[in-house]
Amino acid sequence: MNQFSYFRSHRFRRLLVVSLVLIAFFGAFFWYKLFRKVITVYADPVEHFKYGSIGVEAPAGIPYWIWVVLPRIFADRLPGPGGYVALGASWEMGKEMPIGFTKEIVGIPRVGVNCAGCHTTSVRTGPNEAPQFYFGGATSRFQPQGYVRFLFACAHDDRFTSANIMKAILAIYDMPMVDRALYRFLIIPATKRELLKTEKVDYYWMPERPDWGPGRTDMNPFQREVMRLPDDHVVGSTDVMAIWNERAHENMLHHSDGLNSTLTESVRSAALAAGATKSSIDIPALDRVEAWLRDLSAPKYPFGIDQALAAKGQPIFAQRCAACHAFGGARTGTVVSIAEVGTDPNRNKSWPQSSADAFNKWADGYPWAFHHFRSSDGYLSLPLDGVWLRAPYLHNGSVPNMREMLLPPGERSKIFYRGYDVYDQANIGFVSAGAQAELEGFRYDTSVVGNSNQGHSYGSDLSAADKQALMEYLKTL
Ligand code: HEC
Ligand code: HEC
Repeated sequence: MNQFSYFRSHRFRRLLVVSLVLIAFFGAFFWYKLFRKVITVYADPVEHFKYGSIGVEAPAGIPYWIWVVLPRIFADRLPGPGGYVALGASWEMGKEMPIGFTKEIVGIPRVGVNCAGCHTTSVRTGPNEAPQFYFGGATSRFQPQGYVRFLFACAHDDRFTSANIMKAILAIYDMPMVDRALYRFLIIPATKRELLKTEKVDYYWMPERPDWGPGRTDMNPFQREVMRLPDDHVVGSTDVMAIWNERAHENMLHHSDGLNSTLTESVRSAALAAGATKSSIDIPALDRVEAWLRDLSAPKYPFGIDQALAAKGQPIFAQRCAACHAFGGARTGTVVSIAEVGTDPNRNKSWPQSSADAFNKWADGYPWAFHHFRSSDGYLSLPLDGVWLRAPYLHNGSVPNMREMLLPPGERSKIFYRGYDVYDQANIGFVSAGAQAELEGFRYDTSVVGNSNQGHSYGSDLSAADKQALMEYLKTL
C-alpha cells in the first residue's frame, strides 16, 4: 500500500468524518457556551435604560456567578456592608440586579454596565427613609472607580481561586456539571487573567490621578482605554451630568467643556467609555436610549416651594443669570472661557484638540463614525432645568449646594462630604456635613488637583434677601 492509497482507504475516510464531526461538535459546544448571544429586549424604555444592554457584556462582561459571589468572598475589599450597594449602586426592591447593571447571555450569563449606574440620582428625605430614584440625572453616590478597583483587588487576592469561587457558587446555586467544569478550568482563570490585564493595559494611568470619589469619573478612560492615546498625565476628574430634556438642548454643545455638538455622538461615545468596543457597541439599543432622553422631562422639585418668594427671585435670575442659563439666553449652551468663569482648568485641559482630532478619525469606516468632537477654552453654561437635583455643583462637583454657589468663592467649604443622598432643602443640595454625611460620604478636599471650588462668583454680591428669593426661584426650574 503506497502512501496515497491510505488516504483513499475506507479507514481514513471514516477517521476523517469522525474527526470533522467531533470538531463541529466541540466547536458548536464552545460557541454555545462562550459566545452565543441572547440579549433581553425590555418593552418599557425606562427598564431598558435601567437594565438594558448597550453592548458591554461581550468584551467586558463579568461572568454572572463570579460577579454574584465576589462581594461575599471579598467583603473585606468593599468600603462597607451590603455588597455592591456599598459602592453606591442603587438597588430597587425585588430586582435581581442593581440599576445600571445588565445581565445578558454571551455564552454564559455575564454582567455589564450601562448608562443608568452613573445617570440615576438617589434622593432620601431623611436618614431612615427609602430612596427615591430619578432617572437621567447624575448620581452623587455611585463609585465607578470603586467598582473597578474592587474587581482589580479581587483579582490580585490569593483567595481568587477556582476552588474558592466554585465553593461559594455551589453554596447558592446547583450549577449543571458541564458548567462547573467550564467555570473551574476555563472561566474563573480567564476572568482573573482578564481583570489583571485590564488593570495593567487600560487603567495603568489611574493610580497617579487623585481619587474620583462618588458621582465622578475621569476623562482618561476615553483617551487611554478607548483610543490608546499616550498618557499626558493630565487630571480629568469630572462630575456626572444630568442628561434629561435633551430635545430642549438640541442646538447646544454637550459635555462640561462642550466637547461635542451632537447628542448622538455623546451617547455613542459614552457606551465606548463604559466598555463597549467597535464590534460590540449596540447602536439600536443606544438609539432607543437617545430617543427616550430627548423627551424625558427634568423632575420637578418634590418639596414645597414658596411661590411668592420665587416670584421675587425671578427678576433677579433674569438680570443676573438668564443670559447664560435660561433657555433662549444669548450665551446658553455655549462655552464661557476659563479666563471669564474662573473655575478649575484641569477638566478642560484634559480634552485637548489632539484628542478631538483622534476621536474624529478613530471609527472611520463605521456607519456611526464620529465627526463632531472639538476642544474648547472653557466650560458650558447650561440651562438650569432640574438644577435642584444636580448638586454638588460645577463641572468637578466642588460646591456642595446652591447656597454656597452664591457665596464669594473664598467663603465656600474647603472640605465637605459627597455621596450621602439625604436632601438638604434649606441649602438646595445634599447634606454634606455632620456625622452621618461623614460616615456615608467621601471627603472632598478642594485643595486636591482638579477639585478647586474657585470661580463663578455670579450673584455672590446680592443681599441675603435677594439670594433667598433667587434660590426659591431656582427650585421652580
Ligand atoms: C461611569 C459613569 C458614566 C456612565 C456609565 C455613563 N456616563 Fe454619561 N456622563 C458621565 C460623566 C462623568 C459626564 C460628564 C463628562 C464631562 O465632563 O463632559 C457624562 C456626560 C454625558 C452626556 C453629556 C451631557 C450633555 O448633554 O451635555 C451625555 C449625553 C451622556 N453622558 C450620556 C450617557 C449615556 C447615553 C450613557 C450610556 C451609554 C452614559 N452617559 C454612561 C458619566 C457616565
Ligand atoms: C457669564 C455666564 C454666566 C452667568 C452670568 C452665570 N453663570 Fe452659572 N455657570 C456658567 C458656566 C460657564 C458654568 C459652568 C462652570 C463650570 O462647571 O466650571 C456655570 C455653572 C453654574 C451652575 C452649576 C450647574 C451644575 O449642574 O453643576 C449653577 C448652579 C449656576 N451656574 C448658577 C448660576 C446662577 C444662579 C447665576 C446667576 C446668579 C449664574 N449661574 C450666572 C456661566 C454663567
